[in-house]
Amino acid sequence: MAKVFAIANQKGGVGKTTTCINLAASLVATKRRVLLIDLDPQGNATMGSGVDKHGLENSVYDLLIGECDLAQAMHFSEHGGYQLLPANRDLTAAEVVLLEMQMKESRLRSALAPIRENYDYILIDCPPSLSMLTLNALVAADGVIIPMQCEYFALEGLSDLVDNIKRIAELLNPNPAV
Ligand SMILES: Nc1ncnc2c1ncn2[C@@H]1O[C@H](COP(=O)(O)OP(=O)(O)O)[C@@H](O)[C@H]1O
Ligand SMILES: [Mg+2]
Repeated sequence: MAKVFAIANQKGGVGKTTTCINLAASLVATKRRVLLIDLDPQGNATMGSGVDKHGLENSVYDLLIGECDLAQAMHFSEHGGYQLLPANRDLTAAEVVLLEMQMKESRLRSALAPIRENYDYILIDCPPSLSMLTLNALVAADGVIIPMQCEYFALEGLSDLVDNIKRIAELLNPNPAV
């Protein structure tokens, strides 16, 4: 069964995407089977994996709202050697569309359930917010990696995130351990 890690921090520019891409490629280099999920509408992890975010027929957005299946959204990163569920700005709409759906916090977790045994690691690159998308990542995850800058104000943001993870652990997913 794959270990699922969310790479999260509601601050932007702290190294989430860079960590995600490099960790994925490094795990592949050690013969692990890796799936990277881009859950940021900016699509940086998608572009950074060598997949053009502009030309996507199906993205992680279509998967989350049930408009396509996993195989239709799945891509392969030739650069990194890992599988990729890509994202682009379509994912911005997910915040609103998911609100009206049943089990809105666990759509990603459910979508991943059938393929967890196909991978050793699943890495989720989160957007820079504590949004419905980040919530889906945290509910799907076994663990959370929080890249951060070593400065005082970064610590304030960190306590908000850790409070959220604790609340999710109580209510929705017993697994996340930072
Ligand atoms: N470990 C690191 N050391 C120095 N610079 C880094 C590191 N990780 C990322 N960066 C740089 O910081 C910037 C933001 O990184 P990025 O991964 O896009 O952050 P985020 O996804 O959190 O917005 C980029 O210019 C990236 O090259
Ligand atoms: Mg990013």
